[in-house]
Amino acid sequence: METLLQVRVAAKQRVAEDITAYEFATLDGAELPGYEAGAHIDVHVPGGPVRQYSLLQLPDSSRRYRIGVLRDPQSRGGSARLIDQVNEGDVLSVSAPRNHFALHSGPAHALLFAGGIGITPILCMAEQLAREGRSFELHYCGRTPSRMAFLDQLRQAPFADRVQVHADDGAAEQRLDARAAIGPPTSDRQLYVCGPTGFMDHVLATARELGWAEAQLHREYFAAAPIDHSSDGPFELELRRSGRRIRVAADQSAAQALLDAGVPLSLSCEQGVCGTCLTRVLEGEPDHRDLYLTEEEHRDSFMPCCSRARTPCLVLDL
Ligand code: FES
Repeated sequence: METLLQVRVAAKQRVAEDITAYEFATLDGAELPGYEAGAHIDVHVPGGPVRQYSLLQLPDSSRRYRIGVLRDPQSRGGSARLIDQVNEGDVLSVSAPRNHFALHSGPAHALLFAGGIGITPILCMAEQLAREGRSFELHYCGRTPSRMAFLDQLRQAPFADRVQVHADDGAAEQRLDARAAIGPPTSDRQLYVCGPTGFMDHVLATARELGWAEAQLHREYFAAAPIDHSSDGPFELELRRSGRRIRVAADQSAAQALLDAGVPLSLSCEQGVCGTCLTRVLEGEPDHRDLYLTEEEHRDSFMPCCSRARTPCLVLDL
C-alpha cells in the first residue's frame, strides 16, 4: 500500500465561478515530495471518495501543493464535498505526486490545449516549458471568462505572449479554430490536451484527421462518462504466475474479483482515468473501457477497475 501524506489546508480561494483553489502544506512545515509538470495527487475527500487533481504550479519555496477544483454537477460528489466541507486549517490525506502526463524531453515545440478546469496541468506545463526555455504555445478554451480560472495569472506570466484565450461567448474571431491551431503534423511538435471529454475528443480527432501520429498526442482525462453495464457478462481471469483462475461475476469488476481473491492490486479512481491499476494482459481480448491507455498500449495492457473481456478468459501477468 502506498504511504499517504497528512497535509493541512493552508489556503482556500475561489478563483472562478464554480472553481476553488486549494493549497496544501505538511503539518510540520517539512518539504513535500517533488514532481514535474503534469503530475497529480490523489486527495482522500473526508467521508467521500478518492479524487485525482493535477498540481497547477511547479514546486517552489512555499512547500505547498496547489490544485484547482471544479464543482462538477456530473461528478459523483467528490469535488462538491471537498469544496463544501474542507476549509483552511483542516487536515487531509493525499498521495505523493504521480505523473502520467509528463512533458517529453527534447526540443520539440509543445502545443498545449486546455479546456475549462483542464488548465491546471497545462498551466504547470507552460511554467516548466518557459523555465526550461523551450518553445510552446497555449490555447485556453472556456465557456465564458468568469468560469475560466487563472486568467490573470496567465496575463501576467512571463510567457503571456504565447497564450491565446478562446471564450465561447466572445467574438467569433477569437474562438478556437482547432484545425488552424493544430496545423499539419511535423516530427518536431508534440500536442498536450486536458479538459472535458468532448473538448479533448474534438482536439484529438482534429489532430488525427490532420495526420498526427498517436505518439505525438498526449492527454489527461479527469473523469469518465458513466458506463452502460446492461450487457456485462461474467468471464475468467487466469493469473499466469500462480496459475490461479478467478471468476469475475457479471455485476463485479475484474479489480473487485482480484481483491476478493486476495490478489494485491492498487486502485485509485476506479473509473479508468488515473492509470493506477494498469495490468499486463498476456492472452485473451479485453473489452477496454478506460480513458487512460492509448490504442497502442491497449494491445497488451488493461485497466481491471473498469475494463472487461471480449473472450471467455483473460490471462494476466500476475
Ligand atoms: Fe484508476 Fe483503474 S484505478 S485507472
